[in-house]
Amino acid sequence: MKTKITELFDIQYPIMQGGMHYVGFAELAAAVSNAGGIGTITGLTQKTPADLANEIAKCKDMTDKPFAVNLTFLPTLNPPDYPGYVKAIIEGGVKVVETAGRNPQSVLPHLKDAGIKVIHKCTSVRHALKAQSIGCDAVSVDGFECGGHPGEDDIPNMILLPRAAEELEIPFLASGGMANAQSLVAALAMGAEGINMGTRFIATKEAPVHENVKQAILNATELDTQLIMRPLRNTERVLNNDAVERLIEKEKALGKDIKFEDIIEEVAGVYPKVMLEGTMDAGAWSCGMVVGLIHDIPTCKELVDRIMKDAFELIQERLAGLLS
Ligand SMILES: Cc1cc2nc3c(=O)[nH]c(=O)nc-3n(C[C@H](O)[C@H](O)[C@H](O)COP(=O)(O)O)c2cc1C
Repeated sequence: MKTKITELFDIQYPIMQGGMHYVGFAELAAAVSNAGGIGTITGLTQKTPADLANEIAKCKDMTDKPFAVNLTFLPTLNPPDYPGYVKAIIEGGVKVVETAGRNPQSVLPHLKDAGIKVIHKCTSVRHALKAQSIGCDAVSVDGFECGGHPGEDDIPNMILLPRAAEELEIPFLASGGMANAQSLVAALAMGAEGINMGTRFIATKEAPVHENVKQAILNATELDTQLIMRPLRNTERVLNNDAVERLIEKEKALGKDIKFEDIIEEVAGVYPKVMLEGTMDAGAWSCGMVVGLIHDIPTCKELVDRIMKDAFELIQERLAGLLS
């Protein structure tokens, strides 16, 4: 399938794996890229720029296809060594960077000068337009359904994607709630040039996370995610568990006076415990409503091949058939 995104990233299928903390290691990124999509190493999961350089080198040993690195700009007083991470990305010969969190203007000139394509992930049309105006090559438009940080506007993809299509000139991916051929075909119909998936790619054979995480995804339904940290304007969609229930009780009790320190136990240092050790109640971890559509643990190639095969059938048989 040829779209503006397959052309831009030089890939076979318009399917991206978004950056995921403690999930986006070289194993998953390479598997998605080898399947014809584009996988992503999560930059900040690597503790130092030197660790990221090693992870990039490892990924290059596992695939000769393009892959991306995610750079997430966190709302923190002590920012990570972003210039160091950018240097590791450029020196590692990475072709695509997914930025997220806030406006990537500070790193954009360095990445563009190195010939790197930049796709910025954002949750509103105004932020997408800003990304376009500063020179991003593409955006991932993340709807309210998404796992992780959906922003504060709460606009689901049935509205957000056609709105993005009305306004944007650069190509965009549909992100949030994407899992299968129906997602891809619907996204294309709404003007997107492909899809970005997070949660769906966790439940794959190659995702280097504890088996408990994959089982939790299989067991969950679309009713099992919660929004947390809204009073802090740092809303996150997570899978419900005991820690999340506790956190929500604190939010109810403290109201608008709540501070990050009040919930630190439920949100800090959680990812290695959940993703690597499989301690599922260790705290709050991102998960999309799309868990309701995930019923198996295929390889990345099986998943991507199935999406593409079913998408062709859906377009050629069901949709074309409606015209006659
Ligand atoms: C476990 C998990 C961790 C994530 N970590 C990050 C991250 O560190 N940086 C980022 O930009 N997005 C992160 N995301 C968001 C994904 O890249 C993607 O935008 C989102 O999962 C899409 O929604 P979906 O889960 O419905 O497919 C994370 C998502 C999940 C599920």
